[in-house]
Amino acid sequence: MAASGITNPLAGHYPWTSFPLIISAPMRVMSGPALALAVSEAGGIGFIGPGIKPASILTDLSEAASLLSERGSAPLKLLAGDRGVLPVGIGFQLWNGDLASAKEAVEKFTPAAIWLFAPKDGQKDIDEWTEGLREATKGGVRFGCRGGGHGRTSDGAGLGTLVPEVKDTLKERGAGDIPLVAAGGIADGRGVAAALCLGASGVAMGTRFLCSNEARIKKGYQDAVLEAKDGGKNTVRTHLYNHLRGTFGWPEEKWAPRTIVNKSWEEHKQGVDFEQLKERHDQNVNEKGDKAWGMQDGRTATYAGSGVGLVRSVDPAGEIVEKAREEAKGILRSFQSAL
Ligand SMILES: Cc1cc2nc3c(=O)[nH]c(=O)nc-3n(C[C@H](O)[C@H](O)[C@H](O)COP(=O)(O)O)c2cc1C
Repeated sequence: MAASGITNPLAGHYPWTSFPLIISAPMRVMSGPALALAVSEAGGIGFIGPGIKPASILTDLSEAASLLSERGSAPLKLLAGDRGVLPVGIGFQLWNGDLASAKEAVEKFTPAAIWLFAPKDGQKDIDEWTEGLREATKGGVRFGCRGGGHGRTSDGAGLGTLVPEVKDTLKERGAGDIPLVAAGGIADGRGVAAALCLGASGVAMGTRFLCSNEARIKKGYQDAVLEAKDGGKNTVRTHLYNHLRGTFGWPEEKWAPRTIVNKSWEEHKQGVDFEQLKERHDQNVNEKGDKAWGMQDGRTATYAGSGVGLVRSVDPAGEIVEKAREEAKGILRSFQSAL
């Protein structure tokens, strides 16, 4: 592996992937089987996110397997047949997940990778899930874990320092060959090239894939992502929208979601009390359809990262992967003549 890490060291485990490695993140409900498979077909790794209920993962993996056999490419089908591995990953949220149903799904479909997120009890939970799932697959899948989406509530560093510092620390501890995947704010080839220069072996993108044709998402939500610019100013990390939607129980001192701001946030800042905000939110959602989203008049949760301003169109997921990959390669090549 080159000193900078600019290779695809994961290619041994994921032979269908191309350099630079692009992953679609497991976004709850929105990253379904069609999105995940389209990303893997384009040479990335597509992840299926947690569903509404823990058991949804069985349905989603079963659909991914059917899609692959119906209209998957010959090389991916061959690989799945050869290795008995489904060429997509799955993501679990540990704080409200159910290890027994996760094990059942993994045992039945052997997805190619597993992403463990948001433990309630830190490393202890991660160890328990890793052991449990490894048992179910006899070591056949790769594991990763990270904090994102619902990101760190009150701390956290940008990729510019985080990736090289983690890389240095791993090296100092004799684990320098562990590949790192960078995530957070990457939405096109410029972000991919930058992440590689910092020492990442690949990237995961979430927000960009909200605006893919295959995402399981309402049009109003996608329109709000397209509308939002300047994510530093127009997105915020807050528990407000989880509460308005009736979602409680997250380990809130550790994790909070980033969302595009709208009327609920503005009125919350002006001091309108929660009960009133909830009433207006529910009415808005029940009556306004796609207009429940939108910065001006929308009131409901529009979870998205601070890279929203880089998302300008809804495109097929495979094209998003290919375009970002080619753009990143073009940028890296453009430095060659000056060196
Ligand atoms: C709408 C949305 C839902 C998400 N849901 C999950 C999830 O269920 N599990 C998870 O590990 N990460 C989740 N994430 C975080 C993503 O996995 C990813 O780390 C993050 O989106 C990367 O940053 P980016 O959105 O700036 O590309 C979610 C992100 C978004 C935008």
